[in-house]
Amino acid sequence: MSLFKKKNYAADRPVPTHIAIVMDGNGRWAKKRGLPRTAGHKVGAEAFRTIANYAKSIGLKYLSVYTFSTENWKRSEEEVNAIMELLERYLRELIRDMDKNRVRFCFFGDLSRLSPQLQEEARIAAEESKKYAGVQVNFCLNYGGRAEIVRAAKQFARDCADGKCSPDDLTEERFSDFMYSAGVPDPELVIRPGGELRTSNFLLWQSAYAEYYFTDVLWPDFGPKELEKAIAAYNGRNRRFGGVK
Ligand code: FPP
Repeated sequence: MSLFKKKNYAADRPVPTHIAIVMDGNGRWAKKRGLPRTAGHKVGAEAFRTIANYAKSIGLKYLSVYTFSTENWKRSEEEVNAIMELLERYLRELIRDMDKNRVRFCFFGDLSRLSPQLQEEARIAAEESKKYAGVQVNFCLNYGGRAEIVRAAKQFARDCADGKCSPDDLTEERFSDFMYSAGVPDPELVIRPGGELRTSNFLLWQSAYAEYYFTDVLWPDFGPKELEKAIAAYNGRNRRFGGVK
């Protein structure tokens, strides 16, 4: 855990190094207001912008967000298209404002199913932001935790078949290097707004010892105060990693 402290973190407590968020509740937020679900995603994208800026200001090093899951393709074509368009616009702005924000971007997931335009924007965003050292945002896009583990297993099996390594060489650390998150420390805290109490296939391997924080607040309403509450709850937890304290 980073002991980096900033004045604007009201509770003045240590901030985790890596926080992961399931941005849930956009659809219900919109429905409550008589708006189309897509309006909820639009406000959800703004909520993300605010949280990313705030996370940076309190010294967080890694922020991972579930932007689109491998299961989200089951939604209506209209909703999927609206989310993809929103993402394209978001990435274009992110590339445009990169020098101002100085955030490193990474993409976890199978991007090959996305539009060529979106793939290209993701590539540019990742490539051109490599130079920034402060905070890294991981967009989990067409991401599924099980699919990621299967992909890692296939890569390792291929390396074995090519004679580069043998099954007995495999350790948890080594297997982590086959994940999209290679080199990124595991999240200490996973936040799920929106009232559902499940992991939904999010960072399954990486969250083995994460603390979970659930809240009924819907993602578009999740602001800096909510993030502070989550961090304060995390700081009150007794992390034993299977041991005894
Ligand atoms: C979950 O809410 C949200 C999604 C499946 C999409 C997440 C997308 C965004 C937040 C917008 C794009 C983000 C960025 C960073 C550009 P839901 O639709 O499942 O809500 P519900 O459970 O109320 O139906």
